[in-house]
Amino acid sequence: MQLTNVSRREFMKQVAAGSAGILMLEPFLRIRESFAAALASVPRRPESASDFVQLREQYSLAPDVIYFNHGSIGTIPKPVQKAHEQYLRVCESNPWLYMWGGEWEAPREKVRSKAAAVLHCQPDEVAITHNTTEAFNLLAQGLPIGAGDEVLFSSINHPGASICWFHHSQKLGYTVRQFDFPVARAAELTEDELLDLYDRQISPRTRVLVFPYLDNMIGVRHPIHRLARLAKARGVRYVAVDAAQIVGMLPVSVGDSAVDVLATSPHKWLQAPKGLGLLYVRKAVQPDIHPMWVTWGQNRWKGTARIFEDYGTRNMPELLALGDAIAFNLRIAAEKREARLRHLWQFFRQRVTAHPKLEWRSPQHWPISASLYAVEVKGHKSTDVARLLFEKEGFVMRPFATKELNTLRITPNVFSTEEEMERFFVAIERYF
Ligand SMILES: Cc1ncc(COP(=O)(O)O)c(C=O)c1O
Repeated sequence: MQLTNVSRREFMKQVAAGSAGILMLEPFLRIRESFAAALASVPRRPESASDFVQLREQYSLAPDVIYFNHGSIGTIPKPVQKAHEQYLRVCESNPWLYMWGGEWEAPREKVRSKAAAVLHCQPDEVAITHNTTEAFNLLAQGLPIGAGDEVLFSSINHPGASICWFHHSQKLGYTVRQFDFPVARAAELTEDELLDLYDRQISPRTRVLVFPYLDNMIGVRHPIHRLARLAKARGVRYVAVDAAQIVGMLPVSVGDSAVDVLATSPHKWLQAPKGLGLLYVRKAVQPDIHPMWVTWGQNRWKGTARIFEDYGTRNMPELLALGDAIAFNLRIAAEKREARLRHLWQFFRQRVTAHPKLEWRSPQHWPISASLYAVEVKGHKSTDVARLLFEKEGFVMRPFATKELNTLRITPNVFSTEEEMERFFVAIERYF
């Protein structure tokens, strides 16, 4: 597509007529049209093997790579990547003209509405941040908590949602309590035991409860509706959920829950450009939190989650591409996505469980599991296994080597295949 930029004379004419914004946005609208046409060829209800092959073709992943690491960082679909590159080209052709101004209001709000559709909440409950870590830094310094209050989370809470609390507690006076999650027992865990675990840890001083929707090491999917209700019944004032690992993978519905804050990083499962985050803040809780970014003109956003956004210069091309990434994600029916991920989970789990050299270290029940699971290759260091399988066979997997875990983390996506999984078992036989 030819990208014609706005000529100076044309632009000045439109400024005089008071409609420069429309002209400015024109190249972007054309990019969006070509994106919409590309999206139409993506299977909406993928089911057959050929549907998944077609889906895989939508990505730029190298053919010799078996990518089981969507949990670390996602790969952007080609139509989103193309739109992103084109937005960048237009912006760079005249940064002053294209990067700033009130004209961006409508496109930005469209992205926010799409994000709200993914999270199932109201658009004015969504802030566009940089990542999950930023959201927890906002909370750790901005919630009205102090001496006598306790912030509680487990040992499988990600550092990005944990370290900031220890840091800010030193100045603000609240205490932070991190309890041991029974990682070694993950495979036997039930949903009721999970709830009971948190119930036993909550104390009369617990004012903030933080937990991952899906943790990044063993893949325990927390029942957020039940857990948030339980916490509120026990007197917890704020429930904050780290949803970095689930938004875009499985359906999320935060608006009808008792969760107060939920943060995610769209560069993982939403397959958006890196460097943007999404933050849900329940309407009633918004006035309680002191913003972290403070700058001019911000007060006009009081009463909406936008008050928590960074109002310095932002990355417009990435923002627009985030909207496209969400559209791509929503294109695939949620129940088909879940059915596929569950099928792959079941396939891999059964094979691992029956294998004498392997051990399954994640939950065994789908409702508290997801497309993120941990496998141990008995008698071998996970870091060595991951390196060897990458160098020899092109597998991309995240190893964990902690005092409790010596595992490979497998995070396939809908277009991952059983054949790729079979190759993993062949490789295990060959090298171990
Ligand atoms: C569960 C979880 N929380 C938080 C993070 C941090 O995300 P970010 O680096 O985008 O802030 C990650 C990243 O891997 C994660 O897996």
